[in-house]
Amino acid sequence: MINVGVVGVSGYTGLELVKMLIEHPYFKLNYVATTSGDTKLEKLHPSLQDVVSMDVQGASVDGVKEHCDLVFLALPHKTSMSFAKGLLDAGIKVVDLSADYRLELDTYESAYCEHEDKEHLNQAVYGLIEYYKDELKNTNLAAGPGCYPTATLLGILPFIPYLDENAPLFVDAKSGVSGAGKKLSETTHFVTINDNIFAYNPLKHRHAPEIREKIQKIHNKSFNVNFVPHLIPATRGELVSVYGVLKEDIEPLEILKEHYKNDPFIRIKDKPVDVKSVAGTHFCDIYAQKNGNGLFVSSAIDNLLRGASSQAVACANLMCGLDESVGLPTITYMP
Ligand SMILES: NC(=O)c1ccc[n+]([C@@H]2O[C@H](COP(=O)([O-])OP(=O)(O)OC[C@H]3O[C@@H](n4cnc5c(N)ncnc54)[C@H](OP(=O)(O)O)[C@@H]3O)[C@@H](O)[C@H]2O)c1
Repeated sequence: MINVGVVGVSGYTGLELVKMLIEHPYFKLNYVATTSGDTKLEKLHPSLQDVVSMDVQGASVDGVKEHCDLVFLALPHKTSMSFAKGLLDAGIKVVDLSADYRLELDTYESAYCEHEDKEHLNQAVYGLIEYYKDELKNTNLAAGPGCYPTATLLGILPFIPYLDENAPLFVDAKSGVSGAGKKLSETTHFVTINDNIFAYNPLKHRHAPEIREKIQKIHNKSFNVNFVPHLIPATRGELVSVYGVLKEDIEPLEILKEHYKNDPFIRIKDKPVDVKSVAGTHFCDIYAQKNGNGLFVSSAIDNLLRGASSQAVACANLMCGLDESVGLPTITYMP
């Protein structure tokens, strides 16, 4: 068994990681930690009572080194990189769910803050499984993609060679409230979001530079990405609609089917997708349609799973020489 740990286990993505790791056939969950520790896992997450019982530690680099071969960092950005440095130097494999290792230095520093671990940033592999499988098999550091970039990129990347680079891409995204993490804010307050829907950070959200950068890296094409996220009154799920301008005549569904024919967790649908069909799973459902030279791509994921924790487990599988799909959830919460 490979000993693994979760730091930041009290959060939403931390809980999702625990649920997968306690049933994983090759990983042993051997260490869970929060800032202060000194509690039990089932006390932090009462839904785990009589399912699993573990002591929660106060997070420390030495604690991880002692108990883990691989660790998941389910931490806020900035906190993650200060933690990861010492672990990587000690030869521990790290899967980081935050933004800290996702971007090129310039992109990161203009969207977030000064980078504190430039040395390891260069070694990080972007954890978008379908595009970086081989690289993930040979790295000690995987950077979990943002949830919106995951849904957006999986939908639009197959079409980039056929799109007019001079026309902007418009990305209209909707997310359930768990995408914001467990900390309460005015925006995520029940009274604000219940029976409501609204855009936030239109055209300025930090996931726009991530989408732009990865399109550039994967296809060497520079698109102006207009990204507008919305909050919806749902707990989990993300629906992304992308609009682009085609420069040649294609059959969108044929392009998708051919592109993802070897990828078991991408499902190509023959009608617009929905979030409930992917909730609780690692699947990304995608649909596309054209009207003349107008292209519409629709993709849906569970933000906490494919957008964060199950994608992180898939990265860890590859980093440990396992099949990508081991231990990943496939049964939706439907109905
Ligand atoms: N939510 C999503 O859909 C989603 C999707 C993709 C990526 N992500 C990224 O994944 C990361 C975690 O997100 P989340 O939604 O799980 O956030 P969250 O619910 O706010 O949980 C983050 C956890 O980190 C812990 N923490 C903070 N500082 C710490 C420290 N110094 N040492 C140990 N633990 C510390 C906090 O627990 P204590 O205060 O109890 O220590 C908190 O429970 C974030 O970087 C987020 O951007 C989230």
